[in-house]
Amino acid sequence: MRVLGIETSCDETAAAIVENGRSILSNVVSSQVALHRKYRGIVPELASRAHLQKIAGVVERAFGDCGNPQVDAVAYTQGPGLMGSLLVGKVAAQTLAHMLDCPLIGVNHLEGHIFAVELSQKLRFPLIALIVSGGHTDLILSFKPGRYRVLGRTRDDAAGEAFDKVARLLNLGYPGGPIIDRLAKKGDPAAVKFPRPLMPETWDFSFAGLKTAVLYRVQRLGNGPRPCEIHDLCASFQEAVVDTLAAKVMAAAQKFGVKDVVLGGGVAANSRLREVCAVRGFDRGIRVAMPPPSLCTDNGAMIAQAATHRLMDKSRPVRGFRCDPSLPFQNWAIG
Ligand code: KG4
Ligand code: ZN
Repeated sequence: MRVLGIETSCDETAAAIVENGRSILSNVVSSQVALHRKYRGIVPELASRAHLQKIAGVVERAFGDCGNPQVDAVAYTQGPGLMGSLLVGKVAAQTLAHMLDCPLIGVNHLEGHIFAVELSQKLRFPLIALIVSGGHTDLILSFKPGRYRVLGRTRDDAAGEAFDKVARLLNLGYPGGPIIDRLAKKGDPAAVKFPRPLMPETWDFSFAGLKTAVLYRVQRLGNGPRPCEIHDLCASFQEAVVDTLAAKVMAAAQKFGVKDVVLGGGVAANSRLREVCAVRGFDRGIRVAMPPPSLCTDNGAMIAQAATHRLMDKSRPVRGFRCDPSLPFQNWAIG
């Protein structure tokens, strides 16, 4: 079974073909980073226009890269995401499904991030998933595909948003996550003891206070931090985010007696988060599964993979196809 997956929820125009839920035959991701860089953040109107310009070429390449195979279904991201961007992907998918006379499947973006793992290793249930990206910081408990309980989420900035905003106040460029990840390697994570926003009474997260703590620190340094101070700030800020995320995901796994943790979303590409979660998981007998960094950020393969699961599991009804910028995830696939 071959599935074409189309992803346009944010600022990547992406299409991929996945065979039998195992092999990626093609995976084309066209990033709009250069377009949004000068605004140091995503401009929704520009994003949807760029998707419109690129989508046909991206889909054509996804087919061309693997010798124009036949596909059995077309999947697209139904939400959450930017409405204008989602609609471009949906219309493209709907048109293709009609032309190819095959089923059309709407996929929840968060389910896509969870299933990205399955392109390199088997997903094992029950699991705790931590989806961390520019738009999400969600801690999810799942006993089987399609059954999701959102335990907690961010109350203000998403983890990736915090990376992007801290990079902006240090004048480092956009997107901030990969830049901070790189510079943090040259700094001391213990140089500044930033707060760990653990909020022990809930599974929720909050990164706005941490970002403000970095701002105060930078202001106290006066005339702009020197390079070594920037490295220390990056390392210390990153350590606070990673420590918080890893503490919560491990606590959730232990509380719910779950032996499998899945990481997903752009921030799951962070080298320190991967390292800390792997070590803490090993110490507690918890398997931490994470996609390779290239499949942590938005891509069409994860959408095709989640849809493949959906097609093979007849107990999961296909829901409506309407795009929804704030599509809920709680028990999303069981109606
Ligand atoms: O999943 P994604 O591609 O798009 C969204 O759905 O938001 O995630 C993008 C986010 C950005 O905020 C970016 O700064 C962050 O993921 N990111 C990282 C790293 N690579 C990407 N954050 C920390 N470390 C990284 N290596
Ligand atoms: Zn995403």
